[in-house]
Amino acid sequence: MKKMLIHFFVVVLFLLTGISVYAYFVGYRVDGNASLVSFGTSTDRALLIRRGEYLTRAGNCFGCHTVKGGAAYAGGRILRSEYGNFVSPNITPDSVTGIGSWTSNDFWLALHFGKAKDGRLLYPAFPYPNYSQISRADAEAMFAFLKTIPAISQKNPDHELRFPYNQRRLLAFWRAMYFKPAVFAEDKTKSPEWNRGAYLVKGLGHCSACHSQRNVFGANDGVSDFSGGELSQIQWYAPSLLHTNEAHLQNWTQNEAATLLKTGVNHKSVMSGPMAEVVFDSLQYLTDADINAMITYLQAIPVTKADSVSALDQALTEPDRNEKTKKQMMQQGAVLYRTHCMDCHGAQGEGFTSVYPALKGNPGLQMNSIANPLLVILAGGFAPVTQLNPRPYSMPPFGPVLSDSEVAILLSYIRNSWGNKAAFVTAAEVNHYRTVPMD
Ligand code: HEC
Ligand code: HEC
Ligand code: HEC
Repeated sequence: MKKMLIHFFVVVLFLLTGISVYAYFVGYRVDGNASLVSFGTSTDRALLIRRGEYLTRAGNCFGCHTVKGGAAYAGGRILRSEYGNFVSPNITPDSVTGIGSWTSNDFWLALHFGKAKDGRLLYPAFPYPNYSQISRADAEAMFAFLKTIPAISQKNPDHELRFPYNQRRLLAFWRAMYFKPAVFAEDKTKSPEWNRGAYLVKGLGHCSACHSQRNVFGANDGVSDFSGGELSQIQWYAPSLLHTNEAHLQNWTQNEAATLLKTGVNHKSVMSGPMAEVVFDSLQYLTDADINAMITYLQAIPVTKADSVSALDQALTEPDRNEKTKKQMMQQGAVLYRTHCMDCHGAQGEGFTSVYPALKGNPGLQMNSIANPLLVILAGGFAPVTQLNPRPYSMPPFGPVLSDSEVAILLSYIRNSWGNKAAFVTAAEVNHYRTVPMD
């Protein structure tokens, strides 16, 4: 009897592993817009769930709906904005505090129209203007997956928003002005790879949610706006993905770009802060085919040439600093650099391939926005831990060690050495970033 039971157990185990391994390989290849009509057998169901899990990763639902170290998808993460703090809700299948009582249609309405089951209009802090692009079939798969995760009973605290932003009804006006629900429409003149990439970047990947300039009402120019923008309150700057001076992907070969998106590091560049999180929670899980499709789409967008007033012109026309002060800052900067930075970043700012980023010729250092390099110097830089790069090197925080004017001198120095050219930085600017909340 006991033997039979064990035997039975082994067979079941074998079947289960077989199914999931199969689902793993096949599920990933299913086309994004494929219509899923049959949910008949358990294998179909397993496939659907596996695909849903993959798509949920691609949408980085985990990132916002999970507190660091907390239960997956149980919500409670604070998202700071200029309107106040949003708290992400519980989207586990708990029927009281989560979305356990939701139907697949309710879920679709949330992603596509930004409406909750009870009719509440949702704040676009939940990037549904992007998720509206998601196909119905993909939404079904994601919902099927979210039904299978552990139900966590955890109540949703209220957002802490300032008046008038705490008036949900006002969202009706915002939506009328800035939101048009639309599923991604294929462009038949482009390749299937381009279309897959556009679908992922505009929709699930919601790249424009961060990489765009927002107006006073918090609206950007839509799902293909990659003009670059500061993330309010946490003050990281998500560089333009189009501009020759910033982070446009035509800088990289397909291979270099893929390595950067998948591992957060390539031979020359490294992703930090919120972008490191995007790689950690989402992009590292994508298939090579999907990463390459995203790159194909992004590289095909025409780049914008440098502004007519370059950073160099700006540096030279700054009214409050004469050449003498700049020269002094450069001399003091050289001393500080040798003391604190040279061991890792090299005597000529050349860095060390894939370990310590080069500062020489680094576009992130020479953008008009000083936010990213400044935040890394003050609070440290941490590349994401990924399957392909499990032990990244990190940069120690210098905020506690250096004064505001020392940091200003150092940053001015590295922005203007080894051929780099950019505006000098003031101690007041540095001080402004000292008080930034770090998550
Ligand atoms: C940038 C952060 C962010 C990301 C990414 C994100 N969400 Fe959300 N989500 C929120 C916030 C904030 C709310 C609350 C909005 C509100 O109260 O109006 C929310 C609300 C929701 C709701 C409504 C829940 C309810 O109880 O009303 C659902 C469902 C949801 N998200 C699912 C998802 C899914 C699925 C994904 C991935 C495709 C996702 N979210 C990605 C921040 C995010
Ligand atoms: C949560 C906000 C956020 C989202 C979503 C986001 N990014 Fe970023 N991204 C940033 C920030 C901030 C930076 C600057 C930090 C850095 O360069 O390390 C950045 C940097 C980058 C860079 C430049 C990296 C380098 O070192 O040269 C690329 C390329 C990039 N993002 C691509 C993407 C793509 C593609 C997507 C969509 C799949 C995306 N980002 C989604 C915030 C975001
Ligand atoms: C112990 C080695 C080490 C030291 C010392 C060090 N760094 Fe770094 N630095 C790193 C590593 C590793 C990274 C990449 C980490 C990340 O941002 O993910 C980095 C990143 C940076 C970046 C961001 C580059 C980019 O492309 O995103 C800047 C700017 C920088 N360092 C400046 C400095 C300055 C200025 C000093 C001296 C005050 C310094 N570093 C000292 C290791 C170091």
